Amino acid sequence: MKNKNIIVAIDGHSSTGKSTLAKKIAKKLNFIYIDTGAMYRCVTLFAINNDFIKNFEIDEENLKKNLKNIVISFFWDKEKGESLTFLNKKNVEKEIRNLNISENVSYISKLKFVRERLVFLQREMSKKQDVILDGRDIGTVVFPNADFKFFITADEKIRAKRRYDELIINDKNVNFQEVLKNVIERDFIDENRKESPLKKAKNSIIVNNSKLSIEESYNFVLNIIINNLKNEKKNHF
Ligand code: DC
Repeated sequence: MKNKNIIVAIDGHSSTGKSTLAKKIAKKLNFIYIDTGAMYRCVTLFAINNDFIKNFEIDEENLKKNLKNIVISFFWDKEKGESLTFLNKKNVEKEIRNLNISENVSYISKLKFVRERLVFLQREMSKKQDVILDGRDIGTVVFPNADFKFFITADEKIRAKRRYDELIINDKNVNFQEVLKNVIERDFIDENRKESPLKKAKNSIIVNNSKLSIEESYNFVLNIIINNLKNEKKNHF
């Protein structure tokens, strides 16, 4: 093992069930779960609330100045396997998932100074315990030496349908075509941005879960982790 504590990196496209997968594994293995997408969403919500982003135009100077005032924390309910995201002590778990945030987040996550700050925080949060992080750049930038690296992907229409099914619960006016457009746009921006573009990390294991259930993806990834840890004689279980 390369790290004192175990680090599992789960990267991949949006709406591939990365966070559901990471949460289930964290619960099972008693690892800390870090939802790095939620961190970019928090910065986006902060920027919107403070008028630092309007019509996709960003007031970079003021966002940069105020970045240190953003405190992001997670409350992890082990029993439920739920992670709640807090922005400056306010529970924003639901708010950061809405379409307005999804439409703006790629513009915020392109910014170098935002990425540097959040990567720093992610490394700090991962110092002491076994962790599983999900995001876009975990295996490539945040932890290139992670003990385990997975790259999760699936067909874009299937991913849009998954996101649509989540959104429709709280918002009956959600339109499938709009959600699909957002998925395609985000893939494009995530893969083509200059800073830490989404790409498969060296040595990562690809999981295409278009035809897999949540349970099947989970068992596949979990078995790889458990079997390798057993081989390394790390008695974690
Ligand atoms: O995983 P998610 O859909 O909640 O992520 C929201 C956005 O944040 C996504 O469009 C890309 C960005 N992101 C990123 O650039 N790097 C990460 N490590 C995680 C997310």
